[in-house]
Amino acid sequence: MRVMVTIKSAQDIEDMRPACLHAADTLVMIEPYIRPGITTDDINDLVHEFTVKAGAIPAPLNYHGFPKSVCTSVNHVVCHGIPGNKKLKNGDIINVDVTSIINGWHGDTSKTFYVGDASIKAKKITEVARKALKIGIEVVRPGATLGDIGHAIQTYVESEHCSVVREYCGHGIGRVFHEEPQVLHYGKSGSGLKLQTGMVFTIEPMVNIGKAAIKVLGDDWTVVSRDKSLSAQFEHTLTVTNDGVEILTLPSN
Ligand code: MF3
Ligand code: CO
Ligand code: CO
Repeated sequence: MRVMVTIKSAQDIEDMRPACLHAADTLVMIEPYIRPGITTDDINDLVHEFTVKAGAIPAPLNYHGFPKSVCTSVNHVVCHGIPGNKKLKNGDIINVDVTSIINGWHGDTSKTFYVGDASIKAKKITEVARKALKIGIEVVRPGATLGDIGHAIQTYVESEHCSVVREYCGHGIGRVFHEEPQVLHYGKSGSGLKLQTGMVFTIEPMVNIGKAAIKVLGDDWTVVSRDKSLSAQFEHTLTVTNDGVEILTLPSN
């Protein structure tokens, strides 16, 4: 299968940095607010304000009809949770997924946070998700393949007796929010597209403590684990460099 992957120039990468930094800094900004009693609408409002005040655009808002400026996915919600008036409670986990646009370029990053005291299961799935992203990133260098990334993530997650969601994947990103290639979080070593300097894409494994199966709720957005088991996710936007990888969505401080 042929895929059209845009290769970014060194200047393109420079031009992407402000959006990537802004998205990362938004997660730093929001962290102290993630406490029992706050609603996901409150989180949405804080992210929206922080974004527009910086002269940036929140990419989720109106993206294919998404109604809010950020995705907030609580507990068994896998991704694309829509902010609403429900309060977070002690022991919840929440993924906040921020995508900012500056000068037409996108930066996309997400983190799972603990709300108050984490249960043993919450810690387990969150730390497996955090490490799954790290292990995926460590594979990235020119000459490695997309299959190498997926294989590394899947092997690790399954060794921890957790599961990798199959229906959603990482993606190329740049002037377009979601572009080729698709970056699967499972697969076979050596398979798929060969990585080259200047490719820019996200890695964003969604991992469940139970089975991998998901369903989409009636709002057409909210993705949940079918068995209602806890799900966690971390995401970075990164670029393939001559000697490896650079994470573009690291915060400024
Ligand atoms: N930020 C998500 C991703 O990582 C996409 C969210 S699309 C939205 O690709 F419309 F739900 F915002
Ligand atoms: Co993404
Ligand atoms: Co995202």
